[in-house]
Amino acid sequence: MVRHFLALSDFTANELRDSLALASEIKDRLKRGERFEPLKGKVLAMIFQKPSSRTRASFEAGMFQLGGHAMHFAPDTIGFGVREPARDIARILSRYSDGIVARLFGHADIEELARFSEVPVINGLTDFSHPCQIMADLLTILEHRGSLENLHIAFIGDGNNVANTWVDAASLLPMQLTVACPPGYEPDADLTQRALATGVSRIVIGTDPLDAVRDADIVYTDTWTSMGQERDRQQRLKAFQGYQVNTRLLAAAPEKALIMHCLPAHRGEEITEEFLEGPRSIVFDEAENRLHAQKAILVKLLSCA
Ligand code: CP
Ligand code: NVA
Repeated sequence: MVRHFLALSDFTANELRDSLALASEIKDRLKRGERFEPLKGKVLAMIFQKPSSRTRASFEAGMFQLGGHAMHFAPDTIGFGVREPARDIARILSRYSDGIVARLFGHADIEELARFSEVPVINGLTDFSHPCQIMADLLTILEHRGSLENLHIAFIGDGNNVANTWVDAASLLPMQLTVACPPGYEPDADLTQRALATGVSRIVIGTDPLDAVRDADIVYTDTWTSMGQERDRQQRLKAFQGYQVNTRLLAAAPEKALIMHCLPAHRGEEITEEFLEGPRSIVFDEAENRLHAQKAILVKLLSCA
């Protein structure tokens, strides 16, 4: 039975905690200059239907550091679903590689890829979710806060793939998750219902950003226009007025609240330059941790593959 990582909740809460511990250990070893190459001889295929810098670079660097090799397929080379259907790509890449990372538009497409793949498939972002990002975010919070106990995340802005994955995280790890977004831009309703039904966390989806950040440990935001939504940009810029992470918003948050953003950031839109670059911003530690968190995922899924 091949294990895939299409959603954060493909791991149990214990597996998630173990993977975060492994990521910390892998990071420490790298910082000490120790070699750690459990994936010697393994090959990772990476398929991208959308642009990427962090995801592509961190998986490629991570695979090399673990002793393996990564192959990158840009949108115009693989022609996902255009030149060939997902089910053919899955069966072909399974013959050449030990794992597949895919960044796709449709979540159903990555599920189809996984269904036909004989090797683990890892979600490098779909329109619906971005589990590798939240894994890295949790590692970053753990490092800055010392623990994930009694965590309060305030997600401000678009209820997109990143927000959805925070909702999924709240179905695994006890936390307070407060999402503030304009009406019509909420995280996925079914996912939210399922997360609420687990009873693991307190999840509040509202419209008031000032209210959301009160008592927050982390103020998190993401772009208002995700990849693939460019045509709606003007409408979105209007809809998200009042949801910017700025002085007015941060005045309502506790002083200790840290600022996170998965990046790329749009200065002057969802966040001001001052807060992205300020002392409370941990966005570059967060970006670095993509490398360490994903190495733990690769070791878990590919070592036994
Ligand atoms: N955060 C993130 O996934 O970045 P990229 O789009 O650059 O991969
Ligand atoms: N929500 C953003 C995340 C980018 C990493 C997007 O999908 O474009």
